[in-house]
Amino acid sequence: MRDLAADRSSLDPIEIASIDEIRATQLERLKWSLRHAYENVPLYRDRYDAAGVHPDDLVTLADLAKFPFMEKDDLRASYPFGLFAVPRDQIVRLHASSGTTGKPTVVGYTQNDIDMWANMVARSMRASGTRPGDIAHIAYGYGLFTGGLGAHYGAERLGCTVVPVSGGMTERQVTLIEDFKPTTIMVTPSYMLNILEQYQKAGIDPRGSSLEVGIFGAEPWTNTMRKEIENAFDMHAVDIYGLSEILGPGVANECVETKDGLHIWEDHFYPEIIDPKTGAVLPDGEMGELVFTTITKEGLPMIRYRTRDLSRLLPGTARSMRRMEKITGRSDDMIILRGVNVFPSQIEEQVLSLSGLAPYFQIELTRAGRMDAMTVNVEAVPQTASDDDRGANTALLSQKIKDTIGITAKVVVGLPGTVERSQGKARRVIDTRDEG
Ligand code: DLL
Repeated sequence: MRDLAADRSSLDPIEIASIDEIRATQLERLKWSLRHAYENVPLYRDRYDAAGVHPDDLVTLADLAKFPFMEKDDLRASYPFGLFAVPRDQIVRLHASSGTTGKPTVVGYTQNDIDMWANMVARSMRASGTRPGDIAHIAYGYGLFTGGLGAHYGAERLGCTVVPVSGGMTERQVTLIEDFKPTTIMVTPSYMLNILEQYQKAGIDPRGSSLEVGIFGAEPWTNTMRKEIENAFDMHAVDIYGLSEILGPGVANECVETKDGLHIWEDHFYPEIIDPKTGAVLPDGEMGELVFTTITKEGLPMIRYRTRDLSRLLPGTARSMRRMEKITGRSDDMIILRGVNVFPSQIEEQVLSLSGLAPYFQIELTRAGRMDAMTVNVEAVPQTASDDDRGANTALLSQKIKDTIGITAKVVVGLPGTVERSQGKARRVIDTRDEG
């Protein structure tokens, strides 16, 4: 396999600049961004006036803590264009996230925003080991979701040959990978497992595929899943993070040479970690909720947006900019089962640790009387589909969940093919506790 560590002369100078230089750039840009939001978006002006703060109160980066947070509900309440900071005709692109309830949240980009986005995805891909001239197979969904088009523009910007497959039609994904021989694939990790299964069904050895780099994100995934995918395809698997409200993919990305968390592209996004209960800013290294502020975005500036994603900030390694630890989960996804906090990623780790189980799972939450119950639905691999083997794996997984997480969950090991497959972001939890 070729050496994927980036030639440092090809990096943007700011990626390896001194911390002082990065902080100075951030301060200057943050001042601009605060003023831009205050002067052009009524919600910011009203809220800051009511709180008695003004963009001039920001003298150091730490002063950002004086300003109120933004939340998803603020976007919903301003539906569709109420938070745009430029006249509508300067917005060249809209995206929206479906959301499970209520109105979608709508985001807008100016041409400069789209350029910056392409640059950040190109930078992320380079950090992942992709090079100009590579063929990039993009299986993130195209459309209102930011994944497909975000990845697409970045891959073009880097100088790749782009295959805009979008999600779905898994058989065709395999055919195109086999025929076009891409070296990079960009897709959700759960859908990559779906593609893997299709390889197995077609009797093609995935380790023989042309893929060298997979850039996986849009949902939480564990280091155990990284190993599973890397071994199955003989490729590198790196993590890409982002969210529509801040940009889309390309807010942060791992470097392939270290795979030790995601470097946040701090020249455009200022991160904070807060205590989700009190809102207090926590020092680097402490676990809490990620909050992002855009410092260059024109169309939809976002000041102190509460992501609900849980992580912590770590110092730079392969790049100067800080890293965020791989996301363990969203506060919204945390299951509280009889007093114990559980994230789907913890279940994922245990499922993947058993070779007799396929890497697909879904968690069902039910309530009988006043007692909550969790069922973990998994399935056997073809070699372990007998009743005896499935019985043994049921016992093994229940025990592992009990030993590592400390909860009693009902485990159902079904026949191969019985667990719902992901087409994009996997649906990990089905919660019927409030029904009936
Ligand atoms: O998922 C943007 C994206 C597309 C990122 C493609 C990476 C690749 P949204 O649909 O707005 O945007 O969802 C954002 O997805 O707040 C996280 O909860 C989750 N998420 C995104 N990337 C990761 C990741 C896109 N690498 C929400 N690890 C975020 C864990 C992630 N969760």
